[in-house]
Amino acid sequence: MEEPQEMYPLGRDEVESRRLNEQHKFLLDVVDGAIDRDVPLDNISAVADVATGTGIWLWDAKQMFDQRFGKSPLRSYHGFDISAAQFPSTPQGIELSVQDVFQPFPAEFLNRFDLVHVRLMVTAFPESKLQEAVENVLTIVKPGGYLQWVEIDFSSVEAQTNRDARVAPGSRYWMRFVDMNRMSRCAPDALFNAFKNTGLMDITKKPFHIRGRDELRERAQAWQMQFFAGIMPLVLVRLGVAGDMEEAARMAEPIRRDLERYFEDGEVVDTRFGTVVGQKPI
Ligand SMILES: C[S@@+](CC[C@H](N)C(=O)[O-])C[C@H]1O[C@@H](n2cnc3c(N)ncnc32)[C@H](O)[C@@H]1O
Repeated sequence: MEEPQEMYPLGRDEVESRRLNEQHKFLLDVVDGAIDRDVPLDNISAVADVATGTGIWLWDAKQMFDQRFGKSPLRSYHGFDISAAQFPSTPQGIELSVQDVFQPFPAEFLNRFDLVHVRLMVTAFPESKLQEAVENVLTIVKPGGYLQWVEIDFSSVEAQTNRDARVAPGSRYWMRFVDMNRMSRCAPDALFNAFKNTGLMDITKKPFHIRGRDELRERAQAWQMQFFAGIMPLVLVRLGVAGDMEEAARMAEPIRRDLERYFEDGEVVDTRFGTVVGQKPI
């Protein structure tokens, strides 16, 4: 019997791993670093990253703690992902395991981590399942520990469709794809509510824009080109607009060229990010 198609639209090959690693460096500058300033860094000894992908965030978090507090064998780092395909071959002080965010975590991880980080799962499941994901991730946060979740906010992309003809087709197809899969249009807002519903304390939500930030412009354009142009053929196939990937690649080409022209004028598509942080009650 054929496996049901995964909703997650991104690949897990080397090209996508490189893209995730570059995206990570870009995102650190977009959102003010790996760990939000609302998370106190003292007394953190166990750190986890759920949907870790290549483990790049976890690796950087480890460098940061090592530099700041000195290396310590007592500090541990654990990454979880539904697939091991992008795990690094030499994890260097990081442990990794396969774990679906909707399945119970093994008992050894329950109430164990002082800080659990999650980033960019918005394309992996519908908004209606966000609450369940938050509840399950919370089971591995230590009482008094922190959950930090960074997501994309697509709600501003829609406005682009009316703003400029060069981004209209790509933005429209993307938003149709978001709606077809019932993804969250504004995941940071949905997360904020899910955090509240699970009883997390001192919840904060910080928005981060990239449009209008001159220092980020070129990297933002490169990121958007890789993301929107890269994903467009698959989006066109899944929407039923193109019959197969070959036809989709042909159809995606003018969309890519229009985006390139838009960028030549110094523009950036208005995609936003949001960091939501909360503390698990003791
Ligand atoms: C866009 S990538 C982000 C990776 C990483 N968090 C980062 O920011 O670099 C999304 C990740 O979510 C993982 N993922 C998708 N569905 C998942 C699930 N149900 N449980 C755990 N991980 C999942 C994918 O395998 C992929 O590695």
